[in-house]
Amino acid sequence: MRKKVTIVGSGNVGATAAHWIASKELADVVLIDIIEGVPQGKGLDLLEAMPIEKRDSYVIGTQNYSDTANSDLVVITAGIPRKPGMSRDDLLNTNHKIMKDVVSKVVEHSPNCILIIVSNPLDAMAQAAYKMSGFARQRVIGMAGILDSARFRAFIAEELKVSVENVTAFVLGGHGDTMVPLPRYSTVAGIPITELMDAATVERLVQRTRDGGAEIVKYLKTGSAYYAPSAAVAEMVESILKDKKKILPCAAYLQGEYGIHGLFVGVPVKLGWAGIEQIIEIKLTPEEKAALDKSAAAVKELVEVIGV
Ligand code: LAC
Repeated sequence: MRKKVTIVGSGNVGATAAHWIASKELADVVLIDIIEGVPQGKGLDLLEAMPIEKRDSYVIGTQNYSDTANSDLVVITAGIPRKPGMSRDDLLNTNHKIMKDVVSKVVEHSPNCILIIVSNPLDAMAQAAYKMSGFARQRVIGMAGILDSARFRAFIAEELKVSVENVTAFVLGGHGDTMVPLPRYSTVAGIPITELMDAATVERLVQRTRDGGAEIVKYLKTGSAYYAPSAAVAEMVESILKDKKKILPCAAYLQGEYGIHGLFVGVPVKLGWAGIEQIIEIKLTPEEKAALDKSAAAVKELVEVIGV
């Protein structure tokens, strides 16, 4: 049986996620958007690339939610992106409205799907989708930690002139200015980066990671990053659909883990066929715990504004 992935939003993040997913032959893809013609055009273009890529992924674009019926996975990227000078939090009310509309339609047509939320402000939008959907918390997952840690990994590899394949990194907390990169758990071939760089260099890369999204927005001016965010989505989709059980940093609804209750925050999780199959609690130093709590407090402020 072919797997089916719906991607809501055919902008840069959605369309590029469709590209990664189809070209890795992870599933058939339905691209849906309220904008007439764009998902159809991008979907057809991608379908026509498949013979060259030698992939049998079927791709369509649509405005009609009945085409999304019985998706295994639904990725929600719908919403407005940031402009230079805006924070992710400035998108809160507009994207919450869009999220409410989208989630109700998605759930109606794919009541058994797993939801991957990508719209910003990420953690608050994931929480809104979780509450709206009525799904178990295993089936609503926010994409952010993979993106943030991929940025950290890219900067570490560039700094030390080593293969990105050697570099692992962990970024916890909300996907915002208070995110918590963990240098102690970030390694090159298993060696913590704190052994390989001085403290000032580590701090410089940590700060660049925190500002990673804004750095791209500043260049692009009319939108935000999409190659790395959509590659992160594809990694989550792959781990779930192939039941790989990868441990990845994702936004999950915490119910006491890390001492946090009733809030979406980025933590290491195991992603498999059931969605979030485990939340992994790692030991944090008092400073790291304080940083995570500060990040969770920033998420809490947002979810209180929209009352989810
Ligand atoms: C970023 C946006 C998409 O971090 O949140 O690039």
